[in-house]
This record gives sequence, C-alpha cells and structure tokens, in this order.
Amino acid sequence: MCPPEYFAVGYAINPWMAPGTPVDVELAVKQWTVLRDTLLGLGHTVHVLPPGPELPDMVYAANGAFSVHGVVYGARFRYPQRSAEADRHRAFYLEQGWRYVAPTVINEGEGDFAYLPGRLGGLVLAGHGFRTDPAAHAEAQSVLGRPVLSLHLSDPRFYHLDVALAALDDHTVAYFPGAFTAPTRQILRNAFPDAVIADEDDALAFGLNLISDGRHAVLNSEATGLAAKLRAAGYEPVPVELGELKKGGGSVRCCIAELRSA
Ligand code: ARG
Repeated sequence: MCPPEYFAVGYAINPWMAPGTPVDVELAVKQWTVLRDTLLGLGHTVHVLPPGPELPDMVYAANGAFSVHGVVYGARFRYPQRSAEADRHRAFYLEQGWRYVAPTVINEGEGDFAYLPGRLGGLVLAGHGFRTDPAAHAEAQSVLGRPVLSLHLSDPRFYHLDVALAALDDHTVAYFPGAFTAPTRQILRNAFPDAVIADEDDALAFGLNLISDGRHAVLNSEATGLAAKLRAAGYEPVPVELGELKKGGGSVRCCIAELRSA
C-alpha cells in the first residue's frame, strides 16, 4: 500500500476524475489508515511504499504489478501521468527478493488482473477494453505459467477489471454483468454459475473494488446491498469508508497490491 499524502485530482484519465475537484488530503490519509489498520487487524502483513510528490495516483498501489507464486509481472501504465510509478514498485519487489519480469506491453497490474488459485491449477482473470492491452494477457500467461481468461470491459465507468469483478476466494467471484460485453457475460455465466452478482448501484459505489481473504470481504461502506449479498453467501463483509479516494476513481482494492509469494 502507498499512503495518499500527495493525492490530488489534477488530471482526468477516467470518467470519475474531474480536474480541480478539491481533495481533503488529511481525510484521505485518515481513511487510508483505517483501511491499512483493518487489514492488520485481520492478521495480514502490510508493506508501505513511500509516496512520490509528483505521483498523485500512487495511492492506487494495485496498478503497480501483478504477482503469482513468487513471480511478479510488472506494470506498464497507459497514461504518462502514472508511468513513473512502475519503477517504484519494481524497486520494492527487487529489494524484497522477488523474481520480477518487466512487461513489453501496456498493463495496469492488479487493476486488470485477478487470481483464482483453485481453478485449473491457478487461473488468471484479465480485463481489457480501456487500460490493459490484450497482448499483455498472452504475455502474463507465459511469464506466470498460468492460464489467462480474457474478459472484455465495455462500460468506461468500469475501466479496470477490479472495479467490475472481485475474487472472493480460491474459486469464486463477484461481478457486475453490465460492465462487460455480451460474449464476456456469457463466458462469466458459464465459468461462475455460483458467482455473487452485484447490481449497478453497488458497482457504482465501488462495492466490487473489494479485497477478500476467502472469509472477510473488505469493501466500500456505501455498497450496502452487496454487503448483504456477501453475508448471505457466507462471507463476512467488513465495510470501510474511502470517500476521498473515489474522487480519483478508486476504492479498497485499488489501494492494495496483493503479494502472492511462492
Ligand atoms: N486515477 C487512477 C487511474 O485512473 C485510479 C486507479 C484506480 N485503480 C484501480 N486499481 N482500479 O489510473
């Protein structure tokens, strides 16, 4: 995770961002700290990346890389405003002794990649349509040695996979069908008949931008409908308030790069 000490909305690279929107950095840091403490309280380890003053979106740490079984597939950002973030993440992984593979094509890390260890020996779900180049799906498959299922996003409000779909445990996902093309909706229906289906209100409240450890699903507090559905499906919803970070087009999941070690 990376604290939002320099968070700002000075440019627009997704439909949620309105340049000039006033941001309460103190509140953003406070909300982010509650999220970090929530993860710590659930027993997880959190590493903190130092933020860069010239990188207002660096709080969305999910976009910096995607790791599976100790191998890190690095990110390459679509927009120049964020491109310098990739090297900061790379430095972290190298320092920690991970095997890091630099990408040759555009991909925005965990923003567009999710992982289900219990499917097909480890299945990567990969989004495209707005940010990640579909060529990165093939590259991720060869770098990570795991099959990749390509999912086509079609609604610009859901410009990353992680705002439209979430892994809930080793096998199952939650998603909002309206974020995807018709062929992809068919693929998702076939692959995940037991998925938790979110409605548009919960998706727009960034409810799907959640992180689950298989039991607890930490999600944006405004997604109350989805929280109820998750509870009914046997998960424990853990709501957190991240209102400030919505101004940049992100929530819980965007703030976290999950570290999947060997
Ligand atoms: N302002 C950031 C961008 O547009 C938000 C990134 C959100 N991150 C995510 N994993 N969905 O790139």
